[in-house]
Amino acid sequence: MLRLWTTTTLSLKFACYHRKFTQAAGRQRYTTIMRILFIGDIFGRPGRTIVKDRLPLLVKEHSINLVLANGENSAAGFGITPPLAEELFEMGIDVLTTGNHVWDKREIVEYFEAADGNPHSPARRLLRPANYPPGMPGWGWYEGRKGDIPYAVVNLQGRVFMASNDDPFRVADQLLKEIKAKVIFVDVHAEATSEKIALGWYLDGRVTVVVGTHTHVPTADERVLPNGTAYITDVGMTGPYDSVIGVKKELVVGKFLSNMPTRFEAATGDVRLCAVVVDCDERSGHAREIKRVMLR
Ligand SMILES: [Fe+2]
Ligand SMILES: [Fe+2]
Repeated sequence: MLRLWTTTTLSLKFACYHRKFTQAAGRQRYTTIMRILFIGDIFGRPGRTIVKDRLPLLVKEHSINLVLANGENSAAGFGITPPLAEELFEMGIDVLTTGNHVWDKREIVEYFEAADGNPHSPARRLLRPANYPPGMPGWGWYEGRKGDIPYAVVNLQGRVFMASNDDPFRVADQLLKEIKAKVIFVDVHAEATSEKIALGWYLDGRVTVVVGTHTHVPTADERVLPNGTAYITDVGMTGPYDSVIGVKKELVVGKFLSNMPTRFEAATGDVRLCAVVVDCDERSGHAREIKRVMLR
């Protein structure tokens, strides 16, 4: 939306971007508002199907510029395969993050290796957490452009009640020294709300967005922190909610009752798409607004 602020205000659609020109003190300056959609953990076929069905209209209705998603549960709840990653990219997702399930399908290692030499190939736009031990396959961050706007995506994993990876706080510090884009999106894939909230405060004003993933339950604490970082503790799962975090509920209840090894299967009912929409200023990298989305 192009807005010229002189004696009158004029609004025009312009290449999906929201440009605001301001006549102030005899000089003109402009800012571009970038609108980002982030879709929470896509779980199995039900999650993939609702994304395929609803994403085109969601992008159109909200004038979305950049689409991001966590795809760690795309393959029947456990990991992601190369064909499924390609399928999600073809739906219009620009960058996929993951988390603790990233290695569940071993073929994803070859997919990561195939990206070597092409900084913007689909395989390079699939991330695993950046704070995994040095030398692991894949990348934990991505820098690209959408239209003429540079942006970066960073994937981190928590350490509380999870595997003891490298310190996500200090890994974020290191990455922020290297990343050139002003618009920086961070997916913190973590179990503990405290760890995610602490990372939000720690990165406030240094990145554009910090969202939590992994617990598959959307939280109602979305806000823009004082220094301009949009934050939510968990975006929620995109998949079947007639379940225990995506898995058939009777299997999980049985596991709790018996403590016997149980083969988990993806549930199918009450499918929802959970996401957030964030508006940010591409010049400063500061967020202006974050809204929760839940579609059925
Ligand atoms: Fe997940
Ligand atoms: Fe996870």
